[in-house]
Amino acid sequence: MSAILETRDLRREFGALVAVADMSVEVEQGSLHSIIGPNGAGKTTFFNLVSGTLPATSGRVFYKGDDITELPVYKTIHRGIGRSFQITNIFPNLTVHENIRLACQAMGGDSFKLFRSHRRFTGYLERTGEVLEQVGLTSRALQLARTLPHGDQRKLELGMILAPDPEVLMLDEPTAGMAAEQVPELMSLIQQIQESGSKTVVLVEHNMNVVMRVSDRITVMHQGSKLAEGTPEEIAANDAVRTAYLGELYEEGTAS
Ligand SMILES: Nc1ncnc2c1ncn2[C@@H]1O[C@H](COP(=O)(O)OP(=O)(O)O)[C@@H](O)[C@H]1O
Ligand SMILES: [Mg+2]
Repeated sequence: MSAILETRDLRREFGALVAVADMSVEVEQGSLHSIIGPNGAGKTTFFNLVSGTLPATSGRVFYKGDDITELPVYKTIHRGIGRSFQITNIFPNLTVHENIRLACQAMGGDSFKLFRSHRRFTGYLERTGEVLEQVGLTSRALQLARTLPHGDQRKLELGMILAPDPEVLMLDEPTAGMAAEQVPELMSLIQQIQESGSKTVVLVEHNMNVVMRVSDRITVMHQGSKLAEGTPEEIAANDAVRTAYLGELYEEGTAS
């Protein structure tokens, strides 16, 4: 197995609270690896540590064998790690096209020099068109982001993460707040992006039906620690997971 992303004894304390306790995880290149666990288990904090949004208390993060533990988030993005946030992160008063274009420009490192070079700008426009196509929002390009239906806002967010063409996508509850009937469409879009672009996806997701269907591998977190890890079949059959969480997670997943 070749891990594109690896954490070793990754830990984050908030005062007396150990939010992430010595998590060692290997994410295989090209896989869809889900991280599940009840609210407060430490999933978002784990994402924050890996992406450089939050400094670790101890432990290391490796990306393609390089130690990226100390890198701030803008540098991990440049390395090829794209991450979403649990909260929607789009610019509501810009159009869909402008949102994606800004995300493309941010990758070029000149988000504040909009018209520095005509050729470069044309490059951004081309890339914007590609991304819009990829997430199925071409027909919505000129619409203000805030007027999009919720499901399309989540697609737009996915587009903004895709803009710099990351190798790893870290998605924190991408289906949160979506109507149940919209979930399959977003998930097949994510799978399509993973498979066709040979990208690696690390997914935090509450909906257990979704997780069991799409994941190559699942890590179960419990109070900051790894409770179990394996294929969907192994996790479904794991007694510790079952007694501790699976029932609860399934209920939450189907209720929301
Ligand atoms: N910035 C913070 N300051 C203090 N405590 C935090 C902070 N962020 C998260 N926590 C705590 O860390 C634990 C894990 O939170 P989180 O990573 O958000 O869990 P999850 O995403 O699995 O629901 C929770 O107890 C949460 O209250
Ligand atoms: Mg969270």
